[in-house]
Amino acid sequence: MATLVIIGAQWGDEAKGKMVDVLADSADVVVRYSGGNNAGHTVITGGKTFKFQLLPAGILHKDCISILGGGMAVCPKSLLDEIAATRAQQPELGQLMVSASAHVVFPYHRLLDRLEEEARGENKIGTTTRGIGPAYTDKVQRIGIRMGEFVEPEVFRKRLGEVLAVKNRLLSMFGENAIDFDSLYSEYSGYAAALRPLVRETDSVVQNAVYDGWKVMFEGAQGSFLDLDSGTYPYVTSSHPTAGGACIGTGIGPRSIDGVLGVCKAYTTRVGEGPFPTELLDETGQLIRDQGQEYGTVTGRSRRCGWLDLVALRYSARLNSLSGLIVAKLDVLSGLPELRVCTGYMLDGKVMDGLPTSVSEWNRVEPQYETVAGWSGDLTTARSLSDLPSSVRDYLDFIAAHVGIPVAIVSVGPDRDETVVVREDLVWGNGKN
Ligand code: IMP
Repeated sequence: MATLVIIGAQWGDEAKGKMVDVLADSADVVVRYSGGNNAGHTVITGGKTFKFQLLPAGILHKDCISILGGGMAVCPKSLLDEIAATRAQQPELGQLMVSASAHVVFPYHRLLDRLEEEARGENKIGTTTRGIGPAYTDKVQRIGIRMGEFVEPEVFRKRLGEVLAVKNRLLSMFGENAIDFDSLYSEYSGYAAALRPLVRETDSVVQNAVYDGWKVMFEGAQGSFLDLDSGTYPYVTSSHPTAGGACIGTGIGPRSIDGVLGVCKAYTTRVGEGPFPTELLDETGQLIRDQGQEYGTVTGRSRRCGWLDLVALRYSARLNSLSGLIVAKLDVLSGLPELRVCTGYMLDGKVMDGLPTSVSEWNRVEPQYETVAGWSGDLTTARSLSDLPSSVRDYLDFIAAHVGIPVAIVSVGPDRDETVVVREDLVWGNGKN
């Protein structure tokens, strides 16, 4: 077996898209396992920039099968638009499959996402308003419409009728007009017809690939601290970005996973509301935002920026049983004479030995910092560890020592080529294949 999960080890936007694209070069299958078009994965290659929200970043590799797994919530219109936009830039793509178990996102989900956010007032989550929370709510309530039902016209008609009756009652409680069944059905039937050839039972495809020893990559979206269960609840997304989500969202069991690589930035960012102990509200935060172009790919919102939080990262390493770290965006910190790194949390005057248990605790945490040397100059041309300044290497050693996980890859720029593989043996499942 040679299976690898790629997860975001922080609060999302860790540059996973680039890493999945780089590693997909040697993958036979890439399967995305959670989230929907709330995610934004940017891949820059050959002078072209691709922005994926639903497509697995493996799609650019024509010999690789890309699968949207059953754990996803898929907006059919966005998916079709994304396929067309990607084909316009690169006509030859890999084979694409969509799990019949993935849930379909409808306009009422987006509308309810916005209305619920507005109703929360100052307690809003800061969602992407793509309808992801309401779509997963339907899944849990067992009234969601799955891709397999969506592409069967009569089944879809019946299910949409049942669900829309409930949604229209909810919308009227918010003072909104009812959504017309006929126009929704006719628009979405068109999308269903276009997607029908791609929809199938994909769990067996993934299982067969795993058991036949193919290289299978499981692509996470968002980040560990946005996980519905393990994140900073309720300021989380509604799915499971953690490595465990790869099992839930694709049809394999935990023993089928050989390696888990966690992508983190050399600093920390977060989009939307919620706790962020190492957030920088000063000019250094703004500098990181500008140098790192920390503006959301999906909503264009400014990302909140802060120092690297090794308490959170160590927890994430254990939560996801990481075998290696991918440290991204080291180039962004170039020029800062020194860096601060959070190595401990204090709460109410005491050093914490675990994580905060509530938002109120998270918001009271006082990060304990160590100061390390910064670096300067252009890192983007580095292709091996020895090309990097010694203070960068010291920073990487510092991270690895605190987190207890070796650094497998370093990303020194957005392009596919701007990558330093430090531990080849950690990249594909302990080098078994
Ligand atoms: P939702 O996933 O749209 O419901 O948003 C819930 C929270 O997750 C909000 O704080 C969003 O900003 C955050 N979020 C969702 N997707 C991403 C992502 O891809 N990167 C970073 N944050 C995200």
